Amino acid sequence: MTTPDKPVVACIGMGVIGCGWTAHFLGQGYAVRVWDPVEGVKERLNSFLDLAWPAMTDLGLSEGADRNNFIVCETVTEAVEGALLVQESAPERLDLKVELLSELDKSCSNEVVIASSTSGYLVSDMIVNCEDAPERVVVGHPFNPVYLLPLVELVAGPKTSKEILEKAQNIYESTGKIVLKLDREVDGFISDRLQEAMWREALHMVANGEATVEQLDLAITAGPGLRWALMGPMLTFHLAGGEGGMAHMLDHFGPSLKSPWTRLEAPELTRELRDAVVEGCEDEADGRSVATLVNERDKGLIAIIKALRAAGVGTPGEGGLHGT
Ligand SMILES: NC(=O)c1ccc[n+]([C@@H]2O[C@H](COP(=O)([O-])OP(=O)(O)OC[C@H]3O[C@@H](n4cnc5c(N)ncnc54)[C@H](O)[C@@H]3O)[C@@H](O)[C@H]2O)c1
Repeated sequence: MTTPDKPVVACIGMGVIGCGWTAHFLGQGYAVRVWDPVEGVKERLNSFLDLAWPAMTDLGLSEGADRNNFIVCETVTEAVEGALLVQESAPERLDLKVELLSELDKSCSNEVVIASSTSGYLVSDMIVNCEDAPERVVVGHPFNPVYLLPLVELVAGPKTSKEILEKAQNIYESTGKIVLKLDREVDGFISDRLQEAMWREALHMVANGEATVEQLDLAITAGPGLRWALMGPMLTFHLAGGEGGMAHMLDHFGPSLKSPWTRLEAPELTRELRDAVVEGCEDEADGRSVATLVNERDKGLIAIIKALRAAGVGTPGEGGLHGT
């Protein structure tokens, strides 16, 4: 049972991301109503919370946070009842999102924010069957693990109202999220465009025998990845230009942009390439289960986030309920 006096959010679709959002909101003292078409959601969510809750507790829970304050609902309509925000995290298929958002459009009251976790679809393409109030729909794109990483890319569609956009921003920010509001709709948003470029290049390098999975991961974790927790790729390169900053960087290395170093077209995802990448990851995991790796990753992220807070730079929000 959820506690009635707590603010309520609804999470629709309870995979990695839906469970992550649920953990995040529970940790912020919200009551969460969840729905997923498969059986066994309560057990799945509880197993997820067994892993996530200790990490969240270590980072600091909000007053009133209660890992049991969720209810698994029988229908979408039941789940969205009384919710301030409905966060959709169903599989990344446009036809499915269109159908689900149309159902949410019919089920939700007018002031509710309907946010999609989609990794790249545009609001414009997802609301084509929302006949009642398409102005309620935004993209609220999170990052895994949702209960630890603060970034949410917030994207409006051409019909999204200013009030809903502000409300979505307030809800996310009041729960400690850092909102990156896009000025316009862009396929893949900002962060996934960057990640996708690197992901494609990495697959090309495996496909061509130029690097192993382990080498690719080390190339980031021991080098650029450490800097990126503090500064993004642009400011990082500004510093790489010495006293001359980015201007020197561009004058110096600009011509090499034309060198054929990268191939930003997706490689053919052959069975062979797929297997090589999967096997490489298994080798690198070296027998560690996904749960163990999640635990190791979360410990490391907490240490980095605490270090950032202590240094007062790029500080992830500390959250708290502020009257949303
Ligand atoms: N995994 C990531 O790193 C990541 C990061 C950011 C955003 N996203 C986005 O979040 C969304 C969910 O991704 P995920 O990785 O959690 O997927 P997932 O496959 O882990 O989970 C999807 C869940 O949706 C449920 N589902 C199936 N049909 C449904 C329907 N009609 N309505 C509601 N739920 C339904 C499934 O039973 C499953 O539990 C996608 O849009 C994805 O692009 C994923």
